[in-house]
Amino acid sequence: MGHVFITRAVPGRAVESLTAAGHSVQLWPGDLPPSPEALAAALAAADAAFTTVVDFVSPAMLAASRHLKIVANMAVGYDNIDPAAAAELGVWVTNTPGVLAETTADMAWALLMAAARNVVASDRDTRAGGWKTWSPTGFLGVDVFGATLGIVGLGEIGEAVARRATGFKMRILYHSRTRKPALEADLGLEYAAFPDLLAGSDFISLHTPLTPETRGLMGAAEFAAMKPSAILVNTSRGGVVDQDALIEALRSRAIAGAALDVTTPEPLPLDSPLYTFPNVVITPHIASASLATRSRMAEMAAENIIAVLGGGAPLHPVNRPTNPRHT
Ligand code: GLV
Repeated sequence: MGHVFITRAVPGRAVESLTAAGHSVQLWPGDLPPSPEALAAALAAADAAFTTVVDFVSPAMLAASRHLKIVANMAVGYDNIDPAAAAELGVWVTNTPGVLAETTADMAWALLMAAARNVVASDRDTRAGGWKTWSPTGFLGVDVFGATLGIVGLGEIGEAVARRATGFKMRILYHSRTRKPALEADLGLEYAAFPDLLAGSDFISLHTPLTPETRGLMGAAEFAAMKPSAILVNTSRGGVVDQDALIEALRSRAIAGAALDVTTPEPLPLDSPLYTFPNVVITPHIASASLATRSRMAEMAAENIIAVLGGGAPLHPVNRPTNPRHT
């Protein structure tokens, strides 16, 4: 039976399932993640690692962790691990697809609505005593209903966002690695070249994984190409946006606002200029954070570990070690 290191307390029955399967579980205490040194030390003693998006597992850590057979990431994204390097070393890397798309799309939608209608800025003002009367000119936002939404990345989350947009009778543009004719027909989506999506959208919502190709995808030229009235929503990864260029675009009013669940770095330092813009909404990487979804994600990570420590292949691999390390 194996020794499982979990980098934080997780909701749901994941720990119970691991112990019921006969494994010993070491839970990192406290609310903050282990330091890189503490993570490396814990991995060196573990058969399985249960990680989150803020646990950066380097190839050197994997190489030094001779018994480690799997890194089960409690996330759909896995840019905090190098799956190819892990495969070379015989270590499985897994993620949690299929369970968080709707919850994440709900949050993208909440952010879009919040930014469009000044929900956060007006709440802040109201608490500060700013509500003096009904004002014909106060907190004027923009309509979501009937506007044009540009979706960048039409995976399961982008699709779930598109479904929400149909209820708002939006024109929906999308740009993705692969065209999806069935979804185009089903949801009335229009495939757009990236420049056309930038120029034609009132809202742009990012749903790409962070890869070398998507890092800095939204930069100065892209912001300049957007409508000055447009709002950017990011629930993907902070690195997909060139944050300095975003700050400059907000300063120069090249775009009208942004709603960000992800930033660079995370947490966003309190001296970031992003906090100074009233038209920017910032949440702490919580797009998948419903109790049900986070519990299911944790359980999936546990299921992947149980499968691998039981001598099999995991249910949701993102790499394929040719010579998996054996239990
Ligand atoms: C969260 O960011 C995830 O990738 O699941």
